Amino acid sequence: MLGAFVLLGSVLGSTLATPYTSPVGYMDLFKRISSGCSTTGPASCHNTTRETDLCCFEAPGGLLLQTQFWDTDPSTGPSNSWTIHGLWPDNCDGSFTENCDPSRDYTNIAGLLTDQGASDTLSFMQEYWVDINGQNEQFWEHEWSTHGTCYSTLKPSCLPSGSPKGAEAVAFFQTVVKLFKTLPTYDFLSQAGITPTTSKTFTLSTLTNAIKDATGVTPALNCDGSTLNSIEYYFNLKGSLIDGEFVAIDAPSKGSCSSSGIKYPPKSGGSSTTTSGGSSPTGGSGNLPDKGTIHASSTGGLLSAGTWSTQTLATYHFSGTTKSFTMSTSKGDCGVSDGQLTCGSGVSASTFSARIRLQVTSGGNLLLAYSGSTTFSSDKTPSGTDQETVYTGGSHSKTYTLSIISS
Ligand SMILES: *[C@@H]1O[C@H](CO)[C@@H](O)[C@H](O)[C@H]1NC(C)=O
Repeated sequence: MLGAFVLLGSVLGSTLATPYTSPVGYMDLFKRISSGCSTTGPASCHNTTRETDLCCFEAPGGLLLQTQFWDTDPSTGPSNSWTIHGLWPDNCDGSFTENCDPSRDYTNIAGLLTDQGASDTLSFMQEYWVDINGQNEQFWEHEWSTHGTCYSTLKPSCLPSGSPKGAEAVAFFQTVVKLFKTLPTYDFLSQAGITPTTSKTFTLSTLTNAIKDATGVTPALNCDGSTLNSIEYYFNLKGSLIDGEFVAIDAPSKGSCSSSGIKYPPKSGGSSTTTSGGSSPTGGSGNLPDKGTIHASSTGGLLSAGTWSTQTLATYHFSGTTKSFTMSTSKGDCGVSDGQLTCGSGVSASTFSARIRLQVTSGGNLLLAYSGSTTFSSDKTPSGTDQETVYTGGSHSKTYTLSIISS
């Protein structure tokens, strides 16, 4: 299997414009729906005229990123493989939309895959598409509803007539798995002599060049503190996400790792003796700061009670890592109860996470997330001394994201 990747790497390395075609493997023998789309047209984001058949041309989310995790705290997935995060359709300029069709927020992804003849994909996912807290099904549902529903080429109306309900989600998971198999980050690095270790650190260019040697393109590497934690591979797409061709491209911007001193620790069954959480060096663009303010994407930000206002923002204290942290203000711990964010003395702290976004043009690149969603909403936009209640999710009329700015 490694041989195929090496070959693929050398092909890509010599001809960067060549479409990135996945090696055909065992899994491809299983039945998949067919889009009927040609792959001879322009790649997504590279059309020169307006494309009208968005079943066969991915738009507006034509900048695809395949994200993978290297989770060591706790260790997640096989010790010699990175794990799948997802495949996200960003807009060509790096902005993005999420949660595009709640009517297709499928539950029981495992059952859907099994019922539609994709149990091979499911068993692969159970090993390589795993949630850090063991909530795999929720993780898959989240990736589908948040990102999968935004693909134009996966609209149900694009499917062959008579396709069962959810067939486009099955195709999504099959495609993500198929693409992931062409991107064995662990092997790409070990081919260059880079294996997990606690005894030395790496420079960003050493790591990036190892991936570039294997794939022909530059990925974005993200760190949690100084520890390598995730990688993003970027593509444009020819044809449909169901069965189109992925064209590998350089990451539009670098990730959050600093240029040197990058740790790539081994995964382990037992806990390691190093302390973690709350001790991230400051200044790195993807690190969770110890304290900062929280800004809303439209205007203003959060006060000490957890309300949204245009008044002077409160200082928030963060404890944990970007993947899992709690936060508090001078009023007390912050928690979500009945979908409502509050900070105060009687509040029990909820766990939040932060999604690293690299193309955010203003504000920070750490987006506050609750239960995996970066969408928050209120009844109206505050002005003057108004304080609006902040709700998790998009159920109220003004939706926005919240970014964490270190202070
Ligand atoms: C490419 O096609 C999309 C979808 O129709 C369209 O929105 C976009 O403007 C087109 N780009 C160009 C340069 O025509």
